[in-house]
Amino acid sequence: MEVVASAPAKVILFGEHFVVYGEPAIVLAIDKRAYAKVQLRQDKKLQMSSKNLKLTVCYENDVLKIRNGNEKEAKFKFKPVKVAVDKVFEKYGQYVGLDIEIESNVPVAAGLGSSAAVAASVTAAVSALLNVEMSKEDVFRITYEAEKVVHGTPSGIDPAISTFGGALLFQKDTGFQSLDVKMKIPLVVGDTGVIRTTRFQVEKVRNLKKRYPQLVKPIFLAAREIVLRAVEALKENDLETLGELMNINHALLYGLGVSDESLEWLINAARKAGALGAKLTGAGGGGCMIALARNQELEKVLEAIQSAGGTPFIARKTDEGVKIERK
Ligand code: MEV
Repeated sequence: MEVVASAPAKVILFGEHFVVYGEPAIVLAIDKRAYAKVQLRQDKKLQMSSKNLKLTVCYENDVLKIRNGNEKEAKFKFKPVKVAVDKVFEKYGQYVGLDIEIESNVPVAAGLGSSAAVAASVTAAVSALLNVEMSKEDVFRITYEAEKVVHGTPSGIDPAISTFGGALLFQKDTGFQSLDVKMKIPLVVGDTGVIRTTRFQVEKVRNLKKRYPQLVKPIFLAAREIVLRAVEALKENDLETLGELMNINHALLYGLGVSDESLEWLINAARKAGALGAKLTGAGGGGCMIALARNQELEKVLEAIQSAGGTPFIARKTDEGVKIERK
């Protein structure tokens, strides 16, 4: 028997980093997904492989053996998957051997929530294989546990959006609400190709906040105001305001030290080509930027990002969160 589940990647439109400290943020699920194929084994081993990363590992009595690829990378990449599988086993008191194959078209370590999408799809696939009904809330909780292993102090925004999909107004601790976004949000995502870790970028902001509490405070207040205004602009289909708010949000993130040369380069290229707004998305320090443009300008912005050395694609919002593809 075999089960395939999938979960979407995301872009944070407003509020990354601030969201770690309880401020609101707006996030969209996009039409790039991670897929997990899970099969029962005859033995009790857990074999995990990633097609894109060309890595295969096998856990035998919790001891990790590398079958293919770099050991350090494999250990790091599969850790959240192992946590997710263990949590599902624990929850239902069933411990079985599994072959897990991950296939994803989400750029890795780029700010698009690839690790949460993988953990959510694995969680859903394993529980479906065990024939247990798992609610989306449970998938979210387990994916969040897995994310903590990777990022240290994540807000939970990535697990929430890869589980529920759509557009969310997210706030740590107080929860999240689905935003009924009717408008098309014409977005280009540009990948700088610079790989970084979320954990490091989050720590950078934490240190800055500790060193300059009085300076950072008004930056946080401004970030909150941006999100509140963005909710209104989304309701009113007001692309121009959204673009302006994105530019201001980026300036705040720049002030916190999480932009870098590769991001600035792509953001400037997008703005010059007519984008209404552009900002980094996710943790920054490399990874991806997003640009908002009127439909007629999208191709021009995409080309400008490409000419500036980025890898661009047009992102569309998807309402589909985690789901079983095949059982
Ligand atoms: C990660 O996609 C965005 C950050 O705000 C971290 C988090 O919220 O966990 C940088």
